[in-house]
Amino acid sequence: MSTTVNLDTLTSQLDALEARASDQIRRAASPPALEQLRISLLGKKGGQLSGVLGAMGALPHAQRPLIGQRANVLKQEIQELLNERLRQLEDAALTERLTKEAVDTSAPATYTPLGHAHPLLGTLDEIVTIFCGLGYQVVDGPEIETDHYNFSALNIPEDHPAREMQDTFYLAGGELLRTHTSPVQIRHLEGHTPPVRVIAPGRVYRRDAVDATHSPIFHQVEVLAVDEGLNFGHLRGTVIQFLQAFFGELPLRFRASYFPFTEPSAEVDVQWQGRWLEVMGCGMVDPAVLEGLGLDPERWSGFAAGMGVERACMVRHGIDDIRRLFSSDLRFLRQF
Ligand code: DAH
Repeated sequence: MSTTVNLDTLTSQLDALEARASDQIRRAASPPALEQLRISLLGKKGGQLSGVLGAMGALPHAQRPLIGQRANVLKQEIQELLNERLRQLEDAALTERLTKEAVDTSAPATYTPLGHAHPLLGTLDEIVTIFCGLGYQVVDGPEIETDHYNFSALNIPEDHPAREMQDTFYLAGGELLRTHTSPVQIRHLEGHTPPVRVIAPGRVYRRDAVDATHSPIFHQVEVLAVDEGLNFGHLRGTVIQFLQAFFGELPLRFRASYFPFTEPSAEVDVQWQGRWLEVMGCGMVDPAVLEGLGLDPERWSGFAAGMGVERACMVRHGIDDIRRLFSSDLRFLRQF
């Protein structure tokens, strides 16, 4: 039994194809599924529309254009439906992605307040940076010291009056809290043969009553250079370089002074708001100190200096009371 091909059967086949196509396209769930469907409907070989058209040859010539026209319209319609569905699917995918990847810019951020160095440590950093620029290395020493390093090795024997100005806190074992950073000079020279150029920043202690200019705990930076042929000119040049870098071009003066571990000794003042302010002690390392370390003073000479960091910080920032540096008052600290 052969099926008769005539205008009606082909037309109804195309009608059925139209209904099926629009239904399937509407239900296609993804772009790849849609592509499969396009091949199945419009594919040149084996496509459903081609199948119907293939049968057209059985029609009388006069009827073929009718079916041809109808098929063309259907093909265009199917193409439009496919395109529209593809757009829908792509839109949906995009919307889903945007929703999933959305960032809520109105959500409160995690706030990390930006801190800054305490003015005292800022000052210490600046001093260290300037001396590093002059070729000095930073060295360290203990805050708990022995009488030997804190006094005797620095040419301050047991009953020397200089000890009176540096009373300190004594520990049960006979050690003491260092009164200055100068013991680091001895410790460093014990372990290193000259030439040396070092600075030793750190905390020091004295049995002083607290007032606007005294604190039992404060900070110093020790400077030490030992080499062949160092003289007072080298000390002066180094100190001036440093002070000008730190304070700017202020008037400064060297004043004769006395320290047991330097000879000659000097104190350095800078003129600040009309007043001379003492900012450091210094001098040529006393030959007795070098000899105590087994260094021949005929060959080696050196200079040393020591400065108070609190004083430098206060002069620099116009701070009137040392206690402000230790009170952790944010209203004060935020100004720096
Ligand atoms: N150590 C002294 C003090 O605390 C300061 C000082 C003076 C240090 C002269 C030095 C120096 O190195 O040469 O009073």
